[in-house]
Amino acid sequence: MSNQKYTVTAALPYANGPLHLGHVAGVYLPADIFVRFLRMNKEDVLFVCGSDEHGAAITLRAKKEGTTPKEIVDRYHSINEKAFSDFDISFDIYSRTSKEIHHKTAQEYFKKLDENGSFIQKTTEQYYDEEFKQFLADRYITGTCPNCGHESAYGDQCENCGTALSPTELKDPKSTLSGKTPTLKETSHWFLPLDRHEDWLREWIKEGKFEGEELHNPKDWRNQVVGQCMSWIDGGLKPRAMTRDLDWGVAVPKEDADGKVLYVWLDAPIGYISATKEWAEANGKNWEDYWTGDSELIHFIGKDNIVFHAIIFPVLLKEHGGFNLPKNVPAYEFLNLEGDKFSTSRNWAVWLHEFIEENPDKVDELKYVLTSIAPESKDSEFTWKEFQARINNELADILGNFINRAVVLTNKYYDGKVPARGELHDVDNDVLEQLAGFPEKIAGLIRKYKLREAQSEAMNLARLGNKYLAETEPWKLAKTDMERVNTIMNIALQISASLSIVFAPFLPKKAQKIGEFLNFESNNWENAGNSDLLESGHSIGQSSILISKVEDKYVEEQVEKLKNTNMSNSNLPPQKDEVTFDDFMKMDIRVGEIIDAEKVPKADKLLKLTVNTGIDQRTVVSGIAEHFAPEDIIGKKVSVLLNLAPRKIRGVESQGMILMAENEDGKLSFVSPDEGFDGGCEIR
Ligand code: MF3
Ligand code: ZN
Repeated sequence: MSNQKYTVTAALPYANGPLHLGHVAGVYLPADIFVRFLRMNKEDVLFVCGSDEHGAAITLRAKKEGTTPKEIVDRYHSINEKAFSDFDISFDIYSRTSKEIHHKTAQEYFKKLDENGSFIQKTTEQYYDEEFKQFLADRYITGTCPNCGHESAYGDQCENCGTALSPTELKDPKSTLSGKTPTLKETSHWFLPLDRHEDWLREWIKEGKFEGEELHNPKDWRNQVVGQCMSWIDGGLKPRAMTRDLDWGVAVPKEDADGKVLYVWLDAPIGYISATKEWAEANGKNWEDYWTGDSELIHFIGKDNIVFHAIIFPVLLKEHGGFNLPKNVPAYEFLNLEGDKFSTSRNWAVWLHEFIEENPDKVDELKYVLTSIAPESKDSEFTWKEFQARINNELADILGNFINRAVVLTNKYYDGKVPARGELHDVDNDVLEQLAGFPEKIAGLIRKYKLREAQSEAMNLARLGNKYLAETEPWKLAKTDMERVNTIMNIALQISASLSIVFAPFLPKKAQKIGEFLNFESNNWENAGNSDLLESGHSIGQSSILISKVEDKYVEEQVEKLKNTNMSNSNLPPQKDEVTFDDFMKMDIRVGEIIDAEKVPKADKLLKLTVNTGIDQRTVVSGIAEHFAPEDIIGKKVSVLLNLAPRKIRGVESQGMILMAENEDGKLSFVSPDEGFDGGCEIR
């Protein structure tokens, strides 16, 4: 028996928000299909994932919501873990980087590299936010990408072009915390001198060779992955800081490193190793078997993760020693939604957990659609119309229809017992020969990570079945030639059995259901294509509806829902730049009562108001004279921004601002509290 093993990883999602269909289509679903296929081939495969709980993605989210990082990661870890499980993503382990075993593993890893001399310790000037007294790295700083000109590139990466950046490379840098231009301040960090590794990386990525040994065929890697890496290496690699001045993360295991943590992109990929250890311990396995020797390491990722998995992590693996380099890094492009990018802040998304909640029995239908449009070689798009069309015209009309005919006719003519084949005609031989060829074709595509084509080949087998029945018309022959019908139905049932096998990696629930209709079970890929899976005389079961069609109304509702929760679709101005919770808390907004109002002489638009704010009476000049008569508004309770810097308007000092709502016609309304709220109540 061979020791061949596979360790398949899916990028650890940040536990800073829920998963949407874009994440699923371009990482987790393809990884799951690949893994299910390997398992059906009796391969020894470990599928690891978990939550990435460190880094600025988490701390900034916590800040924005006015809560702690711990609360954020706990919340989203459970939401995402549940969504994956409801969506039948078959991880062997879904861990998290806040676990002790991970902190320990990451720290030991760091120490080993430090002892090896893999790092250089350097004191450099880094951006610093004077107001927040914090060094600014990664997502704490944004600016213009020097590579593509994208205006909101992060301090560690431009998400538009994928380039990995250092904060000092950004043009026009701004602190995410204060919005201000940062200053420079000295600090000391451990750097990974990537420049030392250019030569072997080049050879490994371009030729698949490492120290003279052939590790993989570079043609098996996606062009996009090789291309991005080579342009990086050719542009010259620079030392990259592997530690940060932050209080959230894995502490740097050194004496002189107070207030420093490991860079999230150092700790997170080590998370694959920690998760393997955790799984091995719980299952009586040896974790090292999955990372050394005859084990293939395969990283499923989105394209914005290429540099971290194909350059930085391999360097870390090599420097540590005793680990295999990845065999392949299948990276996915992005999925768009109804003509626009997925966007969390604009709520332009279909959330996985919401979809499942609303459609608990459409999990496989969604899988089918997402695989059909998977962004394998270029960005692709999800639309609800296509969702409907793929399900109705392909899943239901081709697969569902074929299985239904085979099962219903067998029950009708033979009381559910598989008839024996008689003499074979050309058309039968031809179909059986084609049937035998499908599994290999599909398997070859899956092994090349062409899952879109692989699934479409599986559907072609159902098409073949339909065509066979349409040509032979057993329902007509049943009146004259039952002998012939026996053969046809036998073959149709053999095709059905194979369909339950070849669809299993893609649509595990439906495959199982087809198996139930046939009273047949096989998880063995080797059986697919065999023309004697169901023996004559075998009793099949009854069929029920395999795939329900999607109604027009459902599609309309989904599109409507998306547009209603999305603001960019009306005439209203788009959302302004994000502010922090602290920014917001600086505003002192309270209920104020207007106790006097008069027109400002020679100014058509201005009223001079006297407002009781609860803490004082003050003058506020407001541009509402064209909308309200002074006598009508005396006694009104309104919202007032108190701590706006005073300014003189037409010679009158205004000490605050009245908040007004404005509609699309330019009409104004006070923002007033309900009865019982007096001047001075705080508004937050
Ligand atoms: N959290 C990262 C992201 O969502 C992916 C981390 S992958 C790992 O982009 F390798 F670092 F774990
Ligand atoms: Zn860029």
